[in-house]
Amino acid sequence: MFGGVSQRGAWPATIGRGKPASIADNGSFFEASQMKTQVIDGAALARSIRAGLGARVTALAGKNARPGLAVILVGEDPASQVYVRNKSRACEEAGIASFQHSLPASTSQQQLLTLVGTLNRNPAVHGILVQLPLPKHISADAIIRAIAPEKDVDGFHPENVGLLATGNARFVPCTPAGVMRLLAHAGVELAGKHAVVVGRSNIVGKPVALLLLEKHATVTICHSRTPDLGAVIRQADVVVAAVGKPRMIGAEMVKSGAAVIDVGINRIPDGPNAGKLCGDVDYAGLLGKAGCITPVPGGVGPMTIALLLENTVRAAEFAAPNG
Ligand code: GUN
Repeated sequence: MFGGVSQRGAWPATIGRGKPASIADNGSFFEASQMKTQVIDGAALARSIRAGLGARVTALAGKNARPGLAVILVGEDPASQVYVRNKSRACEEAGIASFQHSLPASTSQQQLLTLVGTLNRNPAVHGILVQLPLPKHISADAIIRAIAPEKDVDGFHPENVGLLATGNARFVPCTPAGVMRLLAHAGVELAGKHAVVVGRSNIVGKPVALLLLEKHATVTICHSRTPDLGAVIRQADVVVAAVGKPRMIGAEMVKSGAAVIDVGINRIPDGPNAGKLCGDVDYAGLLGKAGCITPVPGGVGPMTIALLLENTVRAAEFAAPNG
């Protein structure tokens, strides 16, 4: 059993219509006047996914194979440096070889293409991740297209995007995959529900919309030009917030009982908690209103890393000899 909440069946049919009927009594809930809000513990679920990879890494070792992930960071963006350090550390803990390449911001597109080409040919490297965003003088599209699709553990290469869009995913992008696992873990029913995705990035918004569609949700994608965002979000049974704006989605914009997955990781700009992390939604305001919600930190973030490790192990399994 995972640490945070117990595994259970479908999300109650009452979603959005009052108090859920089948909430387990051993999970983590916040109860206010109208609604018990289930807090989905992404850190605990991520730990359990990472622990489960151990057996697969051991099986690969039996074939003389060790999964390897190359992570490339260009420039000195502090947030990216933290993400890359966390990814490398997680690899080591999981028995995955980590090859970190930290390049100066002045690196040319050609130099980066050359490094990607070298990693494509290196049999010890099963996954290649180029941390985004890249400096403006480098085309992220050109770099992503240069990564061998079978090593593209981010799932960003057009071939992998096409496979995902047609329901034949090879590598599901890590954050969207994490969102879907969190929803499944919380027992949220998706078929026939209205899911509203706020944000249309290639990294999160678009792929998570495809995955929700595959689970038979009715999906709306909102973005910065959507008029009356609140009116759209209020229709949602499931809200996936991926805008990168601190607490942009207020409690009044969310239907009572909705499942809320917060992908945002923002620094609070001012006030007594300035500098601390917060999400795209008003977490405190939604406790007691949402049916379930992910915290920031401790929700989607740890899942992204766990699923990157899973994709890397998958890539190594593809490459390993059968039998
Ligand atoms: N920057 C923010 N999220 C991601 C991600 O999932 N992959 C890569 N490569 N860069 C990112």
